[in-house]
Amino acid sequence: MSPLFEPFTSRGLTLPNRVAMAPMTRNFAVDGIPGPGIVDYYRRRAEGEVGLILSEGTVIDRPEARNDPGIPFFHGEEALAGWADVLAAVHDAGGRIAPQIWHTGLTRPQFPDRPRPGEPEGPSGLFRPGEPYGKAMSEEDVADTVDAFVRAAADAVRLGFDCVEFHGAHGYLIDQFFWDGTNQRSDKWGGDTLAERTRFAAEILRQTRAAIGDVPIILRISQWNQQDYKRRLAPTPDALEAWVAPLVEAGADILHCSQRRFWEPEFPEIDGEKGLNLAGWVKKLAGVPTISVGSVALDGDFFGTFSGQDTRATDLGDLEARMERGEFDLIAVGRALIANPDWVQKVRDGRMDELDGYRTEQLAELI
Ligand SMILES: Cc1cc2nc3c(=O)[nH]c(=O)nc-3n(C[C@H](O)[C@H](O)[C@H](O)COP(=O)(O)O)c2cc1C
Repeated sequence: MSPLFEPFTSRGLTLPNRVAMAPMTRNFAVDGIPGPGIVDYYRRRAEGEVGLILSEGTVIDRPEARNDPGIPFFHGEEALAGWADVLAAVHDAGGRIAPQIWHTGLTRPQFPDRPRPGEPEGPSGLFRPGEPYGKAMSEEDVADTVDAFVRAAADAVRLGFDCVEFHGAHGYLIDQFFWDGTNQRSDKWGGDTLAERTRFAAEILRQTRAAIGDVPIILRISQWNQQDYKRRLAPTPDALEAWVAPLVEAGADILHCSQRRFWEPEFPEIDGEKGLNLAGWVKKLAGVPTISVGSVALDGDFFGTFSGQDTRATDLGDLEARMERGEFDLIAVGRALIANPDWVQKVRDGRMDELDGYRTEQLAELI
């Protein structure tokens, strides 16, 4: 049997297969509320037997937590009622789902014609080194933001979500605390070492664990960010260990390691061109299950998406061989699941020739 279709268990949550839907912002929420179109979109992926759906990024209760008005809230009665509808549809169809809990920090609006109305916040008032943007958070802002992350996770569990994911990748708020390029604070939330700069994320994880008990917590991280695609936050295995160990100690059960192409080795100078990817190294160093991601069964990576490049469906490459070896535990599939809500079923049944490629125009509606 393919390792993709073996069950996986974390803290009592059992997934029937190893495929997660990658979190993808779709910008279809009106006034921050997930409506019927969004409910049906996730229902179709549950009917398609995705092992775990990770929702689009959905923001916490802080002013300016989102950088675009189409992003859903994960707070307030109406938005939470919308999410409860999403959850009910997914569970009715036999699926499992986690919200991806998010604060966009000091990132620019995705669409320049939709400027952010207020003053965005981040660790040091920087979009990237030398580029001031928004305001530096006060001690009080930081405490309230931690609290808002924890409240969102607790609300998710209260509603019945199967687990939660925090977005700590790609240059958004949590990532901005990790990076010395955007975190130049001299208080306890900053510091010269990456280990010191994990304190913000660790505080969120610790308080969330205390609030939600025995429910899996996933944290998404990345070496790169949108401010600097070439950034490598942890350029060596030692640095990587110093980054992820405190996160696991604070309560992360699963680390979701974002890459553009899952087959790319993280430290080829150590284990060669076919060496472990980021999720592989993190699993080895942190000793927790990991999720990998990046261009599964597509012939172009997701950066191309944003410049309008279409892709064709491909085979799985060495994905199953890597999973068979236990390099990582789950694989997240993004664009291929936009193009094929039934991707899991087609792959399981060997109907690879029926897989559609992903085209940017597919983002125009919720198919
Ligand atoms: C339209 C779109 C929106 C995305 N939004 C998010 C997001 O909200 N949160 C996140 O962590 N990653 C986001 N990503 C990145 C995806 O989760 C994923 O890592 C990336 O698409 C690579 O997977 P793929 O090659 O299978 O598409 C987005 C990607 C796309 C294409």
